[in-house]
Amino acid sequence: MELSVCTTDADYGAWRAIRIAVVPGERCDTVAELRAQESSSRLLLLAVMDGTVVGSGLADRSELAGGGFVDPQVHPEFRRRGVGSVLLRALAEHCTGLGLPVVRAHVDDEESLAFAAHFGFVEMDREIEQVRVVGDERPPAAPPAGVQVVTLSERPERWAACFERFGREVLADFAAYTPLEISAEQWNTSWPGDPMFLALHEGEVIGCAGLFRDTDRPERAENALTAVSREWRGRGIASHLKRRTLQWAAANGVGEVYTWTQAGNAPMLRLNEHLGYVTGHTSITVSRALPLVT
Ligand SMILES: CC(C)(COP(=O)(O)OP(=O)(O)OC[C@H]1O[C@@H](n2cnc3c(N)ncnc32)[C@H](O)[C@@H]1OP(=O)(O)O)[C@@H](O)C(=O)NCCC(=O)NCCS
Repeated sequence: MELSVCTTDADYGAWRAIRIAVVPGERCDTVAELRAQESSSRLLLLAVMDGTVVGSGLADRSELAGGGFVDPQVHPEFRRRGVGSVLLRALAEHCTGLGLPVVRAHVDDEESLAFAAHFGFVEMDREIEQVRVVGDERPPAAPPAGVQVVTLSERPERWAACFERFGREVLADFAAYTPLEISAEQWNTSWPGDPMFLALHEGEVIGCAGLFRDTDRPERAENALTAVSREWRGRGIASHLKRRTLQWAAANGVGEVYTWTQAGNAPMLRLNEHLGYVTGHTSITVSRALPLVT
């Protein structure tokens, strides 16, 4: 078995094929989206056995402060042959080379949790999936007086402009077990959905919600960041913006929307339940110290 670094579009396509086979319920970034996230800290690997791509891997700085993130993935037909171990060691070594003291990963099933435990990872946090079947969506109540709702495509300059005030504030309020560390560049490239609904007050962004459409399964979409600035919470803005996204979904052939929320974010989980989302899978965030010596 050989590991190789993704460089060509064909490599990225092969990487996506493994990701889609391993997690069919999750949208996978397009080749263009993957390329837009290329950076000196990011590594995408392919594991090839006798000419067949059997696994893929991702390593980068974690979106959670002070650590790395690894995602080894092995095609279900090629498991328990040591492929995951080879990938994990290479990905962890990359994170060690970045000077990071800890590494994190997500596992969504018992088998992968057993693999992670075998390598000394322990549970740190959980995320809950919630799924909403899109139906005949009723229009939301009007937003509070003075609040105007636009789409990001109508006001494209608003996203980068809102990072310092709105972005930093809402990212600091994430219910993750350790703070998030998101750069302005990451905010600009990976966080805005399409469509993205923005609530504006006196021209400033005070709330957002949107969708990432699944390009491989256009009838599905994932919710992008839903957030409201501190002083505007409790006035129905998040609910208004999410209902706008559901209306957009209904009008654009999207039959199902899903979202992931930290288990500790009770207000968001409750709001989604109120909007008709039902609980889906659980994802466990695991972590261990670097270097990986097993
Ligand atoms: C986790 C995953 C990468 C493992 O890939 P793999 O190639 O099957 O793993 P390996 O063969 O290298 O397994 C190494 C060890 O992990 C443990 N392990 C792996 N799968 C296991 C399972 N299903 N049940 C119990 N233990 C398991 C075993 O101790 C195994 O050693 P052994 O086979 O000698 O007993 C694969 O199941 C996967 O792609 N899961 C979905 C993606 C994911 O969650 N990745 C993140 C993991 S941190």
